[in-house]
Amino acid sequence: MKQPGDPHELIILTGLAVLLTAHSAAATTNLGDTLTTNRPLFDGETLISASGVFALGFFSPNNSLANRYVAIWYNNITSHEVVWVANAGSPVSSFAGSLTLAPNGTLLVIDRNNTVVWSSSPLLNTVNKDTIPTAQLLDSGNLIVTDDEHGNYIWQSFDYPSNTILMGMFIGWDLRTGFSWNITSWASSTDPSPGSYAMIIQLSGVPQLVITQDHEIIYWRGGPWVGNGFTGVPQASAYNTVAMSFVTTREKLGLYIESVSDAKLRMILNPNGTAQRFVWLDPPGQWSLFWQNPMDECDSFSPCGSFGICNANEIPHCSCLLGFRPKNRGRWALKDVSDGCVRNTTLDCRNGTGTSDGFLIVSGVKLPDTSAAVADGELGLDECRVRCLTNCSCTAYSLADPSNGGTGCIMWTGELKDMRLYANGGQDLYVRVAAIDLGTSSSQSDHKGKRIATIVVPIIGSLLIGFLLISCLIARHKKRRNFIRKLQMENDEVASDKDIDLPLFDFETIADATNNFSDENKLGEGGFGSVYKGKIRENGTEIAVKRLSKSSKQGINEFKNEVMSITKLRHRNLVLLLGCCIQRQERMLIYEYMPNKSLDKFLFDKEKKMLLDWKIRYNIIVGIARGLLYLHQDSAVRVIHRDLKASNILLNQEMVPKISDFGLARIFGEDEAKSETKRVVGTYGYMSPEYVIQGIYSAKSDVFSFGVIVLEVISNQRNRDSSKSKSINHLVELAWSLWNKGKTLELVDESISNSFSIAEVLRCIKVGLLCIQERPNDRPLMSSVILMLTSDKEVLPEPKRPGFVAMRQHSFEGDHSSSTKQESDSINEISLTIPFGR
Ligand SMILES: *[C@@H]1O[C@H](CO)[C@@H](O)[C@H](O)[C@H]1NC(C)=O
Ligand SMILES: *[C@@H]1O[C@H](CO)[C@@H](O)[C@H](O)[C@H]1NC(C)=O
Ligand SMILES: *[C@@H]1O[C@H](CO)[C@@H](O)[C@H](O)[C@H]1NC(C)=O
Ligand SMILES: *[C@@H]1O[C@H](CO)[C@@H](O)[C@H](O)[C@H]1NC(C)=O
Ligand SMILES: *[C@@H]1O[C@H](CO)[C@@H](O)[C@H](O)[C@H]1NC(C)=O
Ligand SMILES: *[C@@H]1O[C@H](CO)[C@@H](O)[C@H](O)[C@H]1NC(C)=O
Ligand SMILES: *[C@@H]1O[C@H](CO)[C@@H](O)[C@H](O)[C@H]1NC(C)=O
Ligand SMILES: *[C@@H]1O[C@H](CO)[C@@H](O)[C@H](O)[C@H]1NC(C)=O
Ligand SMILES: *[C@@H]1O[C@H](CO)[C@@H](O)[C@H](O)[C@H]1NC(C)=O
Repeated sequence: MKQPGDPHELIILTGLAVLLTAHSAAATTNLGDTLTTNRPLFDGETLISASGVFALGFFSPNNSLANRYVAIWYNNITSHEVVWVANAGSPVSSFAGSLTLAPNGTLLVIDRNNTVVWSSSPLLNTVNKDTIPTAQLLDSGNLIVTDDEHGNYIWQSFDYPSNTILMGMFIGWDLRTGFSWNITSWASSTDPSPGSYAMIIQLSGVPQLVITQDHEIIYWRGGPWVGNGFTGVPQASAYNTVAMSFVTTREKLGLYIESVSDAKLRMILNPNGTAQRFVWLDPPGQWSLFWQNPMDECDSFSPCGSFGICNANEIPHCSCLLGFRPKNRGRWALKDVSDGCVRNTTLDCRNGTGTSDGFLIVSGVKLPDTSAAVADGELGLDECRVRCLTNCSCTAYSLADPSNGGTGCIMWTGELKDMRLYANGGQDLYVRVAAIDLGTSSSQSDHKGKRIATIVVPIIGSLLIGFLLISCLIARHKKRRNFIRKLQMENDEVASDKDIDLPLFDFETIADATNNFSDENKLGEGGFGSVYKGKIRENGTEIAVKRLSKSSKQGINEFKNEVMSITKLRHRNLVLLLGCCIQRQERMLIYEYMPNKSLDKFLFDKEKKMLLDWKIRYNIIVGIARGLLYLHQDSAVRVIHRDLKASNILLNQEMVPKISDFGLARIFGEDEAKSETKRVVGTYGYMSPEYVIQGIYSAKSDVFSFGVIVLEVISNQRNRDSSKSKSINHLVELAWSLWNKGKTLELVDESISNSFSIAEVLRCIKVGLLCIQERPNDRPLMSSVILMLTSDKEVLPEPKRPGFVAMRQHSFEGDHSSSTKQESDSINEISLTIPFGR
């Protein structure tokens, strides 16, 4: 035994005393934010960072009292998420543990028998002999040991992350020492010892972000840094609060992660290998997940094998790159894609300039695995191409940084692995193929299609049908149901527009799928034709088929318009067009099937509305807003929907809202802000006053309709409710008067009275009121709407008087069916002409 007075002995005794008091008082003792060499921190005590954001102390992950860990957690968030664990692999087996700062600057976790279970070495440099080190918990969640008054640290917890990335951390390598900054998952949710997964920057080839499994297998690949993000993380974050910068110097290579606001953000690598990013939103006072990888089937590593490419929006997901075919057709047909694809034609690859190979462009793609690729930051795209063409082992190239006009070059050799397509984002990849495969990929029709596409877009009106026919014909010619592709031939300098392949369905297939358009399969009927539910026999895909009646001329316009608008659009919150069918004078559009039908079916039904708790509703509101933002600002063509209403919002299995029905949509030029029409079409109750009265419409008319929908989602009342009052402004009037009387919460329907967050609902109502303001210029853009809805930091202006619509029958030249058929089926009820004239 050691003699009395031995510091460790003392630790144990005090530890026990503290333990007893802690138990009886059921409270923890706070030592401030600093640990000194004079006094250890015992189990039951905490360090709290200066502003109270983080705490450090002992904890047990599963409330078993046996295993105690020294950890840092969020202090004033009641769920107390643990962000760092010191002795992850070696728990203290009693309540008698302590954390000690040794005079040489080392932190030690000590068990009751004076055994050191963990120590913080190595230190960056040795301690100054004359000074006494201190350890301090910062508000960033970093625990630092300093030995001078300037705050320079000799050790910091941020250099040894656990499973969580906090703002201010670095992930990467010290290239001189080989030290790696990385995060490792816990073994399980109740065991913080290192698990199977780690998120690291992989150094081989062109460095890339990966999640490895058991140090060997790549579980998920974020890919190389491409200027403003990783190629495998294309989601433009709604929370632009993280600033990431990738550095490559002689000494250090990796990623700095900084916060640009004071929002609380954390990224965690779960025991199952999933990485999730959360932001703290208050209200409603909870962690909100805004990013997760892997995100879908296409996100596993190389899901389609070599030269295969994955598209989450297609079934089956896998296909071969153009110029390639399945290596084993039999197995491929049976959905075993592990063999991948092989070249249709071997490369010619003569030396030097004589080569006849060329490149096919795959757009919107996650760049393939770069672990055997090379990069040259100096080369431009043209030089890159020449370099690749003249090197027989080069199979593909792309820009290393497509932002700022595009710089740098990445070249691949050998097989291309782990490619996927993105609906939004992604990059152009130039894949080398033999000349003959450039030819067979129907270069002529592609060129024709391209030219027509570029002409059609500005003119819109009369050429639409030509465009449609050509897209469908191309699709048939290629017999491929693939993606937006660009083709670049050798010596073809012109950067060309994207052409569109609209998958073409056979009439027989559709007839078979819909039971020969039987009445049982009919989902609804609109002015121009009917909508059927179907199931494609060969793969079981459920579809919704919109079949134009042969007599409807107006319907043809809408058909053209819808095809035109939607083939260019892909977004999680837009209904997905799977293809079209034009055969035997039939015109049909084939959509993904939405099992939950439309939003109005839930909102205005006494029983079904109970199924929508506040969380679902909030997600629906935000989802519609995202879809609309995409239409207005982020899509390839700018689109105004013009007929946004609850019955045009479809819901999938998971209640994700999808905007549908683009029959009245208008494509807008870049510089065009608003337009006028003599034929006002749309649905009463959702149309903005300037549109109804003057025929003026702009993106702000959609914003108005969105505002009405928000109020409907909260109140379960229709704006135009023929049963309650004659007014077509029923809900707008009600909301405005309750707002002015300060009784806004009376608008909330009883069906969510148990589930809603007051702050969140008030915020949504206010946003709704801002969207329906009388003057279009006062209404916010959808980008602001999303910020207002999702960030509590955003200060909302006070809403002004809303726009009340007067019923002006004479201003309508079109069909009135839209207003009279409001209660009819959702998928399509409009049968009005589209004014193309300006
Ligand atoms: C936690 O503390 C920080 C700093 O005092 C403060 O800004 C934040 O609002 C607090 N959060 C909660 C949930 O109390
Ligand atoms: C610092 O002191 C502790 C306890 O005295 C000891 O275990 C550790 O090895 C020392 N570390 C260094 C780097 O000297
Ligand atoms: C600590 O001491 C107790 C008896 O005092 C013994 O049972 C236990 O195994 C010891 N633990 C360690 C980690 O040495
Ligand atoms: C993570 O970093 C630590 C410390 O540098 C290192 O020991 C470990 O091997 C790294 N993990 C992986 C998967 O590279
Ligand atoms: C808590 O976790 C430890 C380590 O994983 C395990 O040994 C123990 O049985 C768990 N206790 C409970 C109550 O789950
Ligand atoms: C992995 O675990 C996280 C957290 O428990 C969970 O949210 C996620 O859905 C899981 N993912 C998979 C693919 O199991
Ligand atoms: C492969 O090449 C042959 C001619 O060499 C051609 O008939 C065939 O269509 C090509 N297949 C693909 C998938 O390009
Ligand atoms: C191509 O050039 C390299 C060196 O420039 C030479 O070694 C090789 O034999 C040439 N190959 C052919 C097929 O001409
Ligand atoms: C061709 O590219 C490979 C891989 O980038 C490289 O190792 C090789 O030196 C290149 N060959 C020539 C002739 O440039």
